[in-house]
Amino acid sequence: MRRIFIAGNWKMHLEGRQAAELARQVARQAEDCPGIDVAVAPVFTAIVPVVEALAGSPVMVAGQNCHWEEKGAFTGEVAAEMLAAAGCRLVIIGHSERRQYFGETDETVGRKLQAALRAGLLPIVCLGESLEQRDAGQTLDVVGRQLEAVLAVFPSEQASRLTIAYEPVWAIGTGRTATAGQAQEVHTFIRQRLADKFGPDPAGQVRIQYGGSVKPGNAAELLSQPDIDGALVGGASLQADSFGAIMRAAESQGA
Ligand code: PGA
Repeated sequence: MRRIFIAGNWKMHLEGRQAAELARQVARQAEDCPGIDVAVAPVFTAIVPVVEALAGSPVMVAGQNCHWEEKGAFTGEVAAEMLAAAGCRLVIIGHSERRQYFGETDETVGRKLQAALRAGLLPIVCLGESLEQRDAGQTLDVVGRQLEAVLAVFPSEQASRLTIAYEPVWAIGTGRTATAGQAQEVHTFIRQRLADKFGPDPAGQVRIQYGGSVKPGNAAELLSQPDIDGALVGGASLQADSFGAIMRAAESQGA
């Protein structure tokens, strides 16, 4: 009942023309994958060229971040409403790189999440533990705490609009992927927490992506897990071939 959702997080790569070219290639590959949802997240300055390149395609565009206010004296920030006006359907919130390098906290994640809802954007909220936390046996505590900040502000009647991305920090950009079993364990825990808060039906509508070194070679196994509903892909989303192979792996799971 949950459509598999594959999103490419392009991070701080690809200026407008390069991004538009890759978007066109992704759109072509998406024609072979009608059973899944696909999105790409370019840098802010490439959003408009990418939206234009994707005109007529079901591939959606996501912002990589947003501010919680609608406008004001916040130099260097971009409002959720501005992303929506530029053609974004989604926004990534609380990516671990933002938590790690830009001081994002559970509190700012909650505020940004509310801003996304206010702007009509579909949020992808990222959660995940560091290697030290995993080694100390704190994975579920950490993820549970991060999730609490989401559940505190998210209305259950909008559950089908929510995507959670579980991204263990030690697996991001390292080539080290969580095993399908490790990921499924955390996804099950997230689903249970969602059910405790929203009730089983709304919780069953929330898509939980896995992220962290997803590649063509491991996508099928990860996506075969019952609570892994998609992937947030960094490095492998920067090449049409590898992103397309992940999309096709997802399409064959969804079929
Ligand atoms: P990666 O990044 O696929 O390069 O590990 C994933 C992410 O940070 O979303």
